[in-house]
Amino acid sequence: MSILSTRVLNMKESATLAMARKSRELKEQGVDIINLSLGEPDFDTPENIKAACKQALDKGDTKYTPVSGTKALREAICRKLKKENNLNYTFDQIVVSNGAKQAISNACMALLDPGDEMLVPSPFWLSYAAIGELAQARVIEVYAGADENFKPSADKLESFITSRTKVILFSSPCNPTGAVYNQQELAAMVEVLKKYPRIHVISDEIYEHINYAGQYSSIAQFDEIKDRTIIVNGFSKAYSMTGWRLGYMAASNEIALACDKIQGQITSGACSFNQAAAIEALDGSQDKVHFMIEKFKSRRELVLNRLKELPGINCPQPDGAFYIFPDVRYYFGKSANGYMIHNSEDMSLYLLEIAHVATVGGKSFGDANCIRISFAASEEMINKAFDRIKAALEQLN
Ligand SMILES: Cc1ncc(COP(=O)(O)O)c(C=O)c1O
Repeated sequence: MSILSTRVLNMKESATLAMARKSRELKEQGVDIINLSLGEPDFDTPENIKAACKQALDKGDTKYTPVSGTKALREAICRKLKKENNLNYTFDQIVVSNGAKQAISNACMALLDPGDEMLVPSPFWLSYAAIGELAQARVIEVYAGADENFKPSADKLESFITSRTKVILFSSPCNPTGAVYNQQELAAMVEVLKKYPRIHVISDEIYEHINYAGQYSSIAQFDEIKDRTIIVNGFSKAYSMTGWRLGYMAASNEIALACDKIQGQITSGACSFNQAAAIEALDGSQDKVHFMIEKFKSRRELVLNRLKELPGINCPQPDGAFYIFPDVRYYFGKSANGYMIHNSEDMSLYLLEIAHVATVGGKSFGDANCIRISFAASEEMINKAFDRIKAALEQLN
């Protein structure tokens, strides 16, 4: 009998972190692993942001901040939302958190009661399910495969709505598929949501800038739904600040206040000097962001070209983020080197053990036919990884 709570016993370990641990263990044994399993840009944080952080530290900016973040940062976020998204928010509608992850968690805790249902278009970022379940909600996956470009239609979403549906949570661009919802698709979703005033949308826009599809659209731009939308965004991806742990939400006053209350009891405000640096990230030069996006763009081309060399692999082109999510079903039932491939988790393990390339099996993202490959790595590493993947797949029969 475990001493641990059923809450934690029922919780699944993050598959991406599990794969990271496994590849670290192999690395420590001296194996030359290429890690394409992680969701973080391989660039350093831009110098101007680091300099702003050092300056804040030197100035003694080392004390507790207001729970929802400094007024200066929240005002900078409002300026960003106006300038880039044409959205009007006041600073008291912004809650700064320890990463977008905490913002999502705050929103779920604020909105969901036990037994409420949360719809998650699937494939989805794996933490959504764990966070929803921690809030004791029923997480309902609305699956759309590669043949639907990984985006369920508004009609399909509506067919899953019940009187208990309280939240729809999705990312656009999507981790793991790279799918981006365009304005027409969002408009169709809004038409459905207009009929269900109880439902709120958590719109995870953390990959907003890593978008190859042109003009970015947020569902909060539809007036009919703005007050029921919680925008989640952050600094990890666009500014390569994963370790700084800084994200935020923009929401109605009622929801922002509720999240301030939750965060105030659990973690308080985010790190003071990181918040000062985040103002520089938003207001300072965006050249480094553009540089990184251009790099991701050319890596995406490279990965799509290299993918063509692998027989039987099917994958829609990702329109955003830095992942591809190929369907690897062609290899199910095949074996080599003492490994039999039954599903995507077996494939991911096979690639780790035989090709020494770390990827993530798709099961915990809601699709056990696919694996997630990150292209947040140098072109040299991507080429080396695909040479190895190709050789390992060729052995399977
Ligand atoms: C879709 C999505 N949302 C949120 C996050 C978490 O971001 P943060 O580092 O700001 O917590 C990630 C990180 O991988 C992500 O992929």
